[in-house]
Amino acid sequence: MQRPKKIVAVVGSYRKGGIIDSAVDQILASAAEQGARVSKIYLSDKHIEFCSNCRRCTQEQGDRRGYCAIRDDLAGVLDELESADGIVLGSPINFFSVTALTKRFVERLVCYAWWPWGSRIPKMRSGKRPRRAVLLLSCAMPAFMAWLMGGAPRVLKTAAAILGARTIGLLIIGQVAQQEHEELPARARNKARQLGVKLATG
Ligand SMILES: Cc1cc2nc3c(=O)[nH]c(=O)nc-3n(C[C@H](O)[C@H](O)[C@H](O)COP(=O)(O)O)c2cc1C
Repeated sequence: MQRPKKIVAVVGSYRKGGIIDSAVDQILASAAEQGARVSKIYLSDKHIEFCSNCRRCTQEQGDRRGYCAIRDDLAGVLDELESADGIVLGSPINFFSVTALTKRFVERLVCYAWWPWGSRIPKMRSGKRPRRAVLLLSCAMPAFMAWLMGGAPRVLKTAAAILGARTIGLLIIGQVAQQEHEELPARARNKARQLGVKLATG
């Protein structure tokens, strides 16, 4: 019998119960129905400092992520993601990019690069992609505009790749933020559920 897949989601929204959180719940619920073990990490609950650009974590070569000298919750979050078969990264689009909360986390992923002083550009420590990723974005503008502008999708795709994941789905939920308390639109709910199945069964 196949081992149940482990799926870990990271929520980069400031609002529990908001659009991103609700879409993540749908993905995880449908993945769980397929037998996956699922869990959710709210970045807003974690103590994650800004990357200070000391670059100590990028100096030593090797497959494993470099050691970050900042003592906060980052290592625990990364251990959890590294132990997953599938990951979900979700963020609202604020000022045409991912939230500052998400970006602060993504910048800390520099510890997966080998970038010693003297070399011009960072190299990924490992090109391996043992896991799969589903990416989620939400925005007030129509979704096609977020696709066209590309900034936020690019941040999440890059983060997924750095975390050793091949992106198998990107859902952009547009035209939200019209009501103070908003339900996840039915179409987005269905797509999120489909992505959950894909993540758990692929
Ligand atoms: C500070 C701020 C900036 C925003 N900037 C944008 C933007 O540039 N483009 C856009 O389409 N929506 C923008 N929005 C709307 C958010 O994308 C929307 O509220 C969010 O997707 C809802 O997700 P949530 O329910 O998970 O918080 C912005 C909202 C805030 C509060």
